[in-house]
Amino acid sequence: MFYFGVDYYPEQWPAERWPEDARLMAEAGLNVVRLAEFAWSRMEPQEEVYDFDWLDRAISILASRGLHVVLGTPTASPPPWLMAQDPALFRVREDGQRVTFGNRRTYCPNNPLYHQATRRIVAALAEHYASHPAVIGWQIDNEFGERCYCPLCARAFQDWLQQRYGSLDALNQRWGTVFWSHTYSDWGEIPVPLATGSSPNPGLALDFFRFCSDSYVAYQQVQVNVLRDRCPTHWITHNLMGFGYDRINYFDLARDLDLVAWDNYPRGYWDMQADVDASRAALSCDAMRGLKDQNFWVMEQQAGPSGWETVSVAPRPGELRLWAYQAIAHGADGIVFFRWRTARFGTEQYWHGLLDHHGHPGRRYAEIKRMGAELEQIGERIHGSHVAPAVAMLLSYDSRFAFQVQANNPQFTYSAHFHHVYRALYERHVPVDVVAPTADLAAYRLVFAPALHVLSEEVAENLRRFVQAGGVLVVTPRTGVKDEDNAVVELPLPGLLAGLSGAEVEEYDSLPPGAYNELEFVLPELAMTPPARASVWCDVLKPSSATVVAHYTQDYNAGQPAITLNRSGQGQVVTIGTFSDADLYRALAPWLLDLAGAQPILTTQAEVEVTERWQGQRRLLFVLNHTDHAQEVALDRGTINLLDGSAPLTGTVTLAPRDTLVLETQ
Ligand code: GLA
Ligand code: ZN
Repeated sequence: MFYFGVDYYPEQWPAERWPEDARLMAEAGLNVVRLAEFAWSRMEPQEEVYDFDWLDRAISILASRGLHVVLGTPTASPPPWLMAQDPALFRVREDGQRVTFGNRRTYCPNNPLYHQATRRIVAALAEHYASHPAVIGWQIDNEFGERCYCPLCARAFQDWLQQRYGSLDALNQRWGTVFWSHTYSDWGEIPVPLATGSSPNPGLALDFFRFCSDSYVAYQQVQVNVLRDRCPTHWITHNLMGFGYDRINYFDLARDLDLVAWDNYPRGYWDMQADVDASRAALSCDAMRGLKDQNFWVMEQQAGPSGWETVSVAPRPGELRLWAYQAIAHGADGIVFFRWRTARFGTEQYWHGLLDHHGHPGRRYAEIKRMGAELEQIGERIHGSHVAPAVAMLLSYDSRFAFQVQANNPQFTYSAHFHHVYRALYERHVPVDVVAPTADLAAYRLVFAPALHVLSEEVAENLRRFVQAGGVLVVTPRTGVKDEDNAVVELPLPGLLAGLSGAEVEEYDSLPPGAYNELEFVLPELAMTPPARASVWCDVLKPSSATVVAHYTQDYNAGQPAITLNRSGQGQVVTIGTFSDADLYRALAPWLLDLAGAQPILTTQAEVEVTERWQGQRRLLFVLNHTDHAQEVALDRGTINLLDGSAPLTGTVTLAPRDTLVLETQ
């Protein structure tokens, strides 16, 4: 069965309405609801006084309509009576200010009193629902995030450092605290990098960001332990925030979960674009799938205009269904819409659900009902199928954190650079896995390592192994610059990869906004490619064994190598010396794919997204029209159309605006 549902807040509506909600959900083909993740003050109105009656009643009404339940633990939003107990429960921001009651996510993840209160409410909830037949799994907390700079965290950070370094001598040496006379003589002297302290030691700052990430991983583990103990038959997840969220190492966070889920909002109110960039959600799906190398759920899928103080562009007819199919096309095994009905009260009055405030079904409900009926037909065929790319991109949280400390160039962000590379592959219909730099790369032909800034010997060895065995590796600027302590390596760049790359960075130039150099491709295969621009950063490369692919044409580095290609073992390494923008990677993509022998799924226009899911030799092909006009797509083999009663389909097909085809190869 394919899980298809909504996030539902019965506590925000009169109980008389619940049966009607359950009926409408069932009629739309929904089969799962997520409940209770913001209902702590309803479940524990006073300390250690529990009330689950209302939730029991809501669940039995939902269950009577065949709906399964995912229960949220309510710790993202503690009740006022708890937060009134001690000001130290509140998180401290980077500017040194303690947050106050008002929103949510206000707690310090290292506060022992908060841990205690957490264990109590999670245990009470878990014991109550451990054997409830409707409950299938748990979501812990809600969208972990936000670093805490409080004195408690400062102490915990010092302990964390002691574990990591063993001795102060080691720490002083590895951070290079001799610089500016920062040599520590007691663990208690080590600060957290508050903004008031200004530009910190990069070693300290990277470790603090790692520590903050570990703090949420550890806090999550507190809940995992309670749930595993009480509810051994239930699965456990958390709702992550996709590729874009960069303050927690999601590989670490996912390790202790059974299942990764994430929240997908293509039309945000913070981003009033008329057109949705569909490659963003695609990248997030791939990144979330890569965390455990397994299929995922979308625990919050956009259901209407989003909004807190202002309101986003309304999802166009067809978009809700299109975005949900897009997630499925990238490996979702469950889609849960946020939220069922738009709240009348609270900060999220304008975050629209499937139903508007008035509660009557309208256009968006009808669209989801259509999809519900479709999934009843095809859910079985999708179940158990997997995405199997030959191309991977390496996502390094250490590098990402290090760039948060030092951006290198004010125009550079790791996330945007990563997206530029991804987009070139996405537009060519090349499926991509996003994996950790330490992942086993044996299954891939082509691996991109964008700005792999912090590079360990272990990762360098992993890349060498991949290339020796015949893989094609692509690296971009600022790779191999830092060791694991965020100190600059004592090697010519790209540091530990210089041998593999067959080229060294002779010097580099950080470009001002708007400035660019031009590239001329000199490798015969690329000679006809129109010149692309170099911007943001230019490495001047000096080949040792590599051949020159492109050189700069302007400024003082005119004629100098900008891109090189090196053969090593059975494989090859492409070293790109400039960050540039998506156009450069668009220009290089066909050549790189050729070099690696990696094939697009289909050759068709960029606005039509194409993905595939496999079950053995059975191939499901998803074709998604992200535009508001019809698109023609030439299929390269015979298929059957699963959304049309398995009618055969060959040749050129026309996709209606924002329509999706789910095809099976004959
Ligand atoms: C996030 C949260 C939800 C809700 C939505 C809308 O994704 O997980 O609880 O707040 O945003 O703001
Ligand atoms: Zn804290």
